Amino acid sequence: MILNFLILSMVLIIPSPSSTSAQPNCTRVCAGGRHENQVPYPFGFSDGCEVHLNCSNAGEIRVGQYNVHNITRDHILINFPSKCDRQFNEIRQFNNRNFALTWRNGFLLSNCHWAFYECKVPTIRVGSHLNLQQCDTTGVDTTINCYSNNTPEQEEFINLNSLELPRCQYLVSSALFDVNGNSSHSESGPEFDQYLELGWWVRGECGCDRNAICRNVSYENQTIGYRCYCNQGYVGDGFIDGDGCRIQAQAPGGSNTKPPP
Ligand SMILES: *[C@@H]1O[C@H](CO)[C@@H](O)[C@H](O)[C@H]1NC(C)=O
Ligand SMILES: *[C@@H]1O[C@H](CO)[C@@H](O)[C@H](O)[C@H]1NC(C)=O
Ligand SMILES: *[C@@H]1O[C@H](CO)[C@@H](O)[C@H](O)[C@H]1NC(C)=O
Ligand SMILES: *[C@@H]1O[C@H](CO)[C@@H](O)[C@H](O)[C@H]1NC(C)=O
Ligand SMILES: *[C@@H]1O[C@H](CO)[C@@H](O)[C@H](O)[C@H]1NC(C)=O
Ligand SMILES: *[C@@H]1O[C@H](CO)[C@@H](O)[C@H](O)[C@H]1NC(C)=O
Repeated sequence: MILNFLILSMVLIIPSPSSTSAQPNCTRVCAGGRHENQVPYPFGFSDGCEVHLNCSNAGEIRVGQYNVHNITRDHILINFPSKCDRQFNEIRQFNNRNFALTWRNGFLLSNCHWAFYECKVPTIRVGSHLNLQQCDTTGVDTTINCYSNNTPEQEEFINLNSLELPRCQYLVSSALFDVNGNSSHSESGPEFDQYLELGWWVRGECGCDRNAICRNVSYENQTIGYRCYCNQGYVGDGFIDGDGCRIQAQAPGGSNTKPPP
């Protein structure tokens, strides 16, 4: 079951007013234009934040120039519209000290030195939003290359080095595959077109609430950080420095809420 940790595509309600006290140097509100978005620990918009995101003048949450669609307890989902001549190098901005591209991302790449050995992305489906002939007029080679990771079981994240090997010039489009963790089903098409999925983590030693479990996050078999998950019957961000976990007032289903310890 996927617990919706939070939804911030529109407006976010922060449950506890005491939650802003923990990190005085982190701004958790992104305001401007008609938008005002608040994010919980560990996210924020200033240098003092554990996971630093950007805030546009219009009040939109961003990674680079791309808008954040939503944030979950594991992932940051980013709007990533198709574009014929987006430089491949842009991909680097999605891997930093607190997040990285997950293996669920598939890419359409162009002007590559060679083709990927394995190409599991159904090109026609992914490309359906994009008039590839349009790319012709911009001088982009429309022989589209693609990439999707075929060994997701061990690794949460894409190895960017392998993605860079064919030395592609353009990063045209992206799609997310397989919500259930089964990469061999990509024939059924992507789950979401034109999104990027980033996995996030907090650096350092586990700092989770006593009613939460800590999960190490690894990149290439190296532990780089952690995330907290409240135990069943509790809600919250799970972090000691955040809101921690509190007893769930009322379970939606009613019957499977654990009594308080
Ligand atoms: C995030 O956005 C996707 C795509 O719109 C949606 O399917 C998913 O349920 C959203 N997740 C949350 C937690 O809002
Ligand atoms: C907040 O920032 C100020 C100045 O940058 C610094 O002196 C102070 O120690 C910081 N406080 C915390 C809790 O990090
Ligand atoms: C935020 O913007 C700064 C300055 O443009 C940039 O250096 C940084 O990488 C951006 N961070 C994110 C998460 O987009
Ligand atoms: C993934 O799909 C294949 C092919 O249908 C199936 O044999 C395998 O059991 C599935 N694996 C998981 C983890 O669901
Ligand atoms: C998590 O990583 C830390 C630091 O590498 C390690 O000490 C700890 O044993 C790991 N925990 C689990 C559950 O793997
Ligand atoms: C990570 O460890 C697994 C199992 O030990 C191994 O098969 C895999 O090659 C390792 N991956 C990397 C990138 O070192």
